[in-house]
Amino acid sequence: MTVIRSQVIGCGAYLPERILTNAEIAKTVDTSDEWIASRTGIRRRHIAVPGETTTDLALKSAQNAMTDAQIAVEELDLIIVATTTPDETFPSVATAVQSRIGMTRGAAFDVQAVCSGFIYGLAVADNFIKAQQASTVLLIGAETMSRLMDWTDRTTCVLFGDGAGALVLRAAAGRGDASDRGVFNTKLYSDGRLHDLLYVDGGPSTTGTTGHLRMLGKEVFKHAVINIADSIEASVRDSGLSISDVDWFVPHQANQRILDATARRLKVPAERFISTIEDHGNTSAASVPLALQVAVDDGRIERGDLVLLEAMGGGLTWGAALLRW
Ligand code: ACO
Repeated sequence: MTVIRSQVIGCGAYLPERILTNAEIAKTVDTSDEWIASRTGIRRRHIAVPGETTTDLALKSAQNAMTDAQIAVEELDLIIVATTTPDETFPSVATAVQSRIGMTRGAAFDVQAVCSGFIYGLAVADNFIKAQQASTVLLIGAETMSRLMDWTDRTTCVLFGDGAGALVLRAAAGRGDASDRGVFNTKLYSDGRLHDLLYVDGGPSTTGTTGHLRMLGKEVFKHAVINIADSIEASVRDSGLSISDVDWFVPHQANQRILDATARRLKVPAERFISTIEDHGNTSAASVPLALQVAVDDGRIERGDLVLLEAMGGGLTWGAALLRW
């Protein structure tokens, strides 16, 4: 049976040049490199400088992905940007990117699912492609999480960073079995009752301000391992495959301890979980494509590999996606 598959035909990423180390943060709040590294795995993160916006980062990652895919802007039907930190409340980052790359047709919009945004965006892109409403889609995860931090709160400000990553997806015919290249399935979940575990204490219709990120870290941690492992198992099962078939797990980069605990729960060697947490921190919707890019560049992820993407974030939202690279 012939099916439509969303195949990745290019990827790109961009990190701001400014690097903020744990030691620098320790000069302004009561923390240490040792505390941050041992509890999270984070050593440094990239931070956008004043005037550098989410759209700037998104644009550069998009240009890199389009160069990699060797496509012209006229070939794009749709731009989706996963972000929680848009330049303005409206319009979307996606329409700003559309304008700056010179795309004058098609559609562009943002998806907001916090750290799960890239998985949600991939699900939307894949469904647009399968419904034949778009054949070439630019999917971007881009964040300036540093702008949502309360830089006097040591429990949150040490965790996050800025960056962007992008994929170009294109419709292709597949056989409908596990030998195909492209997205096999996406699994999305949310539980709005868990709002208080992770939220921003502001917004246009409440305070009229942007607000700061607030989190009950221990609670988020507990939900993360269980929810992520469950969504990975659901995604793999749905394709008639098993966990041992997966070549690479590309997780949302929240905390090295979450990655290690998830690997243990699934009985997968930790080396098969791509980790960039040490250098990037938690870049929310950008973390999965940033980690993908690192593993593609260093040759770990190769064409034909089975790759599992997963994330969890505010909402709570979580999900997974299985694809053959
Ligand atoms: N430096 C030094 N001490 C700190 C710091 C810091 N940066 N932050 C907290 N502490 C202190 C606390 O005040 C507390 O002190 P106390 O015992 O005197 O009260 C002590 O360290 C222990 O705090 P806990 O919150 O119990 O520390 P824990 O081991 O749970 O680690 C952490 C905290 C790293 C946030 C962890 O809970 C975690 O990673 N949770 C997952 C949440 C997450 O990653 N969220 C990201 C967004 S959601 C997502 O992306 C999945």
